[in-house]
Amino acid sequence: MARVANKSAQRMDSFFAMQSSRSDLWRDALTAAQRWASGQDGRPALEESIANLNILEEFHAYPGVRLMGSLREKIMAGNAAVAADMIKRFSDAILAGAYSSQADRGDAEDDGDVLQDVLPTVISGREARRPYFEVLMVSPQPASRWPAICTEMRRLRRVEDSFVYEPVIVGSFEDAACAAIINPKILAVIVAEGVPFRSKHDAPILRRILDDTIGLLPSSASALKLASTLKGVRPELDIYVTTDRDVERLASDPAAASARRIFYAVEELLELHLAVLEGIQARFDTPFFDNLKKYAQRPIGTFHALPIARGKSVLRSEWIRDMGEFYGLNLFLAESSATTGGLDSLLEPTGNIKKSQEMAARAFGADHVFFVTNGTSTSNKMVVQALVAPGDIVIVDRNCHKSHHYGLVLGGGQPLYVEAFPLTQYSMYGAVPLQAIKKALLNLREEGRLDRVRMLDLTNCTFDGHMYNTRRVMEECLAIKPDLIFLWDEAWSGFARWSPFLRPRTGMGAAAAIEEWLLDPASVTAYEKQQKDFGPKPSMQKLLATRLIPDPRKVRLRVYQTNSTHKSMSAIRQGSMVLVKDVDFGSVESQFHEAVFTHASTSPNQQLIASLDVARRQMELEGYGLVMNAISIALKIRTIVSSHPVISKYFRILGANDLIPDAFRQSGFVDYLEPGASWADVVKSMREDEFYLDPTRMTLVCGTAGFDGTQFKGLLASRFNIQVNKTSRNSVLLQSNINNTRSDVAHLVRVLVEICVEIEERLKSGGDGARKIFEARTKSLMTDVPDLPNFSRFHDAFRGNAGKLTNEGDMRTAFFMAYDAKACEYLPLNDPDVNRRLEKGPALVSANFVIPYPPGFPIMVPGQVLTRDTIDFMRKLDVKEIHGYEALKGLKLIRPDKLGGKSATTKRAK
Ligand SMILES: Cc1ncc(COP(=O)(O)O)c(C=O)c1O
Repeated sequence: MARVANKSAQRMDSFFAMQSSRSDLWRDALTAAQRWASGQDGRPALEESIANLNILEEFHAYPGVRLMGSLREKIMAGNAAVAADMIKRFSDAILAGAYSSQADRGDAEDDGDVLQDVLPTVISGREARRPYFEVLMVSPQPASRWPAICTEMRRLRRVEDSFVYEPVIVGSFEDAACAAIINPKILAVIVAEGVPFRSKHDAPILRRILDDTIGLLPSSASALKLASTLKGVRPELDIYVTTDRDVERLASDPAAASARRIFYAVEELLELHLAVLEGIQARFDTPFFDNLKKYAQRPIGTFHALPIARGKSVLRSEWIRDMGEFYGLNLFLAESSATTGGLDSLLEPTGNIKKSQEMAARAFGADHVFFVTNGTSTSNKMVVQALVAPGDIVIVDRNCHKSHHYGLVLGGGQPLYVEAFPLTQYSMYGAVPLQAIKKALLNLREEGRLDRVRMLDLTNCTFDGHMYNTRRVMEECLAIKPDLIFLWDEAWSGFARWSPFLRPRTGMGAAAAIEEWLLDPASVTAYEKQQKDFGPKPSMQKLLATRLIPDPRKVRLRVYQTNSTHKSMSAIRQGSMVLVKDVDFGSVESQFHEAVFTHASTSPNQQLIASLDVARRQMELEGYGLVMNAISIALKIRTIVSSHPVISKYFRILGANDLIPDAFRQSGFVDYLEPGASWADVVKSMREDEFYLDPTRMTLVCGTAGFDGTQFKGLLASRFNIQVNKTSRNSVLLQSNINNTRSDVAHLVRVLVEICVEIEERLKSGGDGARKIFEARTKSLMTDVPDLPNFSRFHDAFRGNAGKLTNEGDMRTAFFMAYDAKACEYLPLNDPDVNRRLEKGPALVSANFVIPYPPGFPIMVPGQVLTRDTIDFMRKLDVKEIHGYEALKGLKLIRPDKLGGKSATTKRAK
């Protein structure tokens, strides 16, 4: 068995940090080699680093097995200077991602033939270059044949090729899985039949996952099984299967759907090469962007609106020329209000926008994708309007983004608010427990009103990183109402598609799994068995306590997901997508178009549409590595903050155990930083737990350093040029994304240290007095936190024919009553009348939405009866920005005499 690293972070299968620890290991090797070359004692450390790197490099094309062999020979021969020189070149090239044909030739003496003209000039800056990727070959041939296979593959290269690749060869399924997981440059896989299952390396964690979870057992090993396993991990990979046996039978196997093509081995090498390039081209194409670039080069005279198009009004201007110089000519050349001449119409796409949307659907695992140029605020309103008719009930998280609430107002849907679990200490909410959702549905069923429920509308992930068990939520809800529609607002987590650690928790990821389950005959058996176990009338308790199985014969799978592409991928601000996987989409398609017509601008921005196209291309070609990097950066930040001797005294990043109560972490997962936690534990948590924490969303508690969230956010921005996301009373939200680098981490850490040192100095120089003030401030921020108010109830005047057990209401009528000034009154928060009316009535009924930032959710909605909790919260609130509330005037209420004589005695639904 090959030697594995002694540090757990360097283990072959501790892969989160793999790419960064790879370059660190090369740097360690370099330091040791240079010491050795200068006559010091560096050789043992060098040998250890190289032993650690040996396995890792088997999964990368560069420097690859042959150069690694050559390096080992140099070390064994005691040739310190040559070894140090080779390591320097490898390490520089890996760090910069620059594998150029000259610089990286390694030891030219015996390896020139390998690398000459082989590795492309990547990031050389000197010449135009073809994009580079790596192809994984899973081969049953003895390892001694692999160099010859590589040479054969390289001989197929032609100048006409748009891309260039290097093969990486492995000899077992386990190694193939490792390579595909570890090496994000691998974009295509060629699997030959007849490859052994087990690796010769030690990979206990990977083994546990493959054996127990994915179900890839040695006995079931086949090229097609490996293909579907790899697709499960990285759906974007193109997989080619080669066989020298019954190729026609293999091609007719249903599992062959995972393979892009199946080849009869050997004879088709050139075809294989061309297929690989074509597969990459199919992801590289960006129909709208490509056309826009062509359009920009044409000499076009414009006699329509949009004078900015072609840039003449800007560049010829005496006064606004700087705008042209700042943005560059292309921005103006690529502007047009036309929908012809190679462009297309976003509102009624028939050409390249249509193609781009279809490609996005393929990439994101949806049936249809709609590009939206006004943010997910608009995407949500479109989906709600398209699917919900006036009077329909929508079960919705009260803490969801305001676009959902406003969407319901516009369309007349009735919200049935369900509450997320509170995280009072941090003045924020988690996510909505499944029990609360099931209870709402079961109550509606009890009262015979299930037919009025149309949709479940949830935020996934929440601002603070809570991800639902989307599959479980949908399955259990479908067990109660088989045609329920799901809207997953994934504004923050569109990128999640590109990580196997996040994808199953997305709406589309779960929909794919449910779709597969529905086709499996075992699903009917499982459903029938559960029904039999339940007997004729199972109690509410039983139904709430059991994981419900839907009847696969009745389920209509209808899933919608919205993502702010601009929030997590390389799209321009406001670029958003609606993803659709709805078996009944045909029945709502025309409504859907109406909703698009209602909300979309008739002048959508061309650059925004192009950026959606390009963002898709990027994610299909490098999203896996980018998201892995974002996760790895987040884990680094989490680790440093928790272990740094000074930072950890004043700051803390909340772990899964802080943000998700134990009861919702059924797998026993504690946190990413828990000693001994491995990525097998992460996978288990991701698969089983009710809620899972997206590691890239980091709640940094700053109240313990004496700062409230808004103050700390301001400090980071004004003094240190660090921008962060949302704040709570005592925290700020840091978010790592596909843009972050290790330098960003270093900057953040340095800043946190500086802030901590300043606190320490202040406390030291200020003596007892300063310490007391500091303690009082941190206590106030961390413990004197107001209780978060739950939704109370709609006033009876807005309850219509609602039942007794649930809280839905006609928010739309209440909203429009506020348009009549005579129907409304204002009451200052501290007016004695507020307390009097809270006790004796008449009820205080909100006329509008009141949304404080933070926390950013409506603590009052139109038609809501205000209770003591809400008023107390408002009185304690110390934030400046409260949408819908004018402090000078007070609460805007609907006058009691306008409420149709209805009393407000309705008790809150239990
Ligand atoms: C959960 C959620 N949904 C939707 C939106 C709106 O997205 P956009 O800014 O793309 O309009 C936001 C914005 O912050 C959000 O947090």
